[in-house]
Amino acid sequence: MKATARANANIALVKYWGKRNKKLILPYNSSISMTCDGLFTITTVEFSDKYNRDIIVINDEELKVEEDKSSSPTFADARVVDELRSSLPFAVARVKDEKDVLGHLERIRQTAGIKEKVKVVSQSNFPVAAGLASSASGLAAITAAAAKAAGSNLDQKELSILARQGSGSACRSIFGGFVEWLRGEKEDGSDSYAVQIAPPEHWLEFRLIVTILSEEKKKVGSRAGMAQTVETCPYYENWLKTVNQDLEIIRKGILNKDFTSVGSRAEHNCLKMHALMITTSPAIIYWRPETLKIVQNILGWREGGLECYFTIDAGPQVKIICLEKDVPELKKRLQALKDVKKIIVCRPGEGTKLIDEHLF
Ligand code: DP6
Repeated sequence: MKATARANANIALVKYWGKRNKKLILPYNSSISMTCDGLFTITTVEFSDKYNRDIIVINDEELKVEEDKSSSPTFADARVVDELRSSLPFAVARVKDEKDVLGHLERIRQTAGIKEKVKVVSQSNFPVAAGLASSASGLAAITAAAAKAAGSNLDQKELSILARQGSGSACRSIFGGFVEWLRGEKEDGSDSYAVQIAPPEHWLEFRLIVTILSEEKKKVGSRAGMAQTVETCPYYENWLKTVNQDLEIIRKGILNKDFTSVGSRAEHNCLKMHALMITTSPAIIYWRPETLKIVQNILGWREGGLECYFTIDAGPQVKIICLEKDVPELKKRLQALKDVKKIIVCRPGEGTKLIDEHLF
């Protein structure tokens, strides 16, 4: 009844931003990502009647788990909080949103038909909630470990569907290499899961360099942010009209190892997503002055013949899309910039795996 999983984070080349079904986490558009070797979460889960309450420890911090759900909303009622938030005024809406980890464990318990309390210990090797896809690796690891510990024998597609319900982007981390999350058409979400476009070995030279500019926790989480975009952004329909072309170009580019077309289209798709965020009411601006400085440097380096592109998620960090041969030069140039606190170089990584070394 104890299992441990290791999941890598993923970084999207075509972004997911907006849900057509918030409860099941069904997206408006498909998305494509690279699973990143080097940014990972390890999670151990044990269901046992030796526990008289659920214990969840994430990065050394124990989550407050409220047993009585009828009291004021807590972490366990994230969805209620979400709903409340959308009806609340601007200032209150701008709080950090949380993933409903306990609700996700409850879903897994129900699927397996078990009732035992759970202990979860989870550890990531990178800053969480700063736009570094911590929820993707976190929810992928917890899904795989909990499903195994609960005795459910799920294949990768089933795990992807389950992980999706914890956090959308987590469904892509189940697979390694280059991955597409198919939006699906069905109301019940049974056709909304990730598939592998190509394994890590397909394009070993592809790199994403993550620059950490700020480790501050973001003010607007992706969950609340994307809901506000869908509701208020005047350009959202245009996003949906153009995203299929981005998907096609990047999917093909990955299969043909066409770096220019993958890099340039991924950068364009990222800018389109940030244009949505900026034109949401109230505006969601994840960029900091340092973010723009790095972006301008990248544009300059590219003009000077060093081919690299950028992508940015729901946070200030810039991820540089490049090839292995240019990593030493890029590292040198990045290290010379005072805003860059840390650099993590990611190659295409493997999907979520069960491992034998437990955290407790
Ligand atoms: C900007 O997967 O964190 O990183 O489904 O509400 O948990 P939820 O959102 P989440 O959103 C990720 C948004 C993004 C783009 C992406 O990874 O595709």
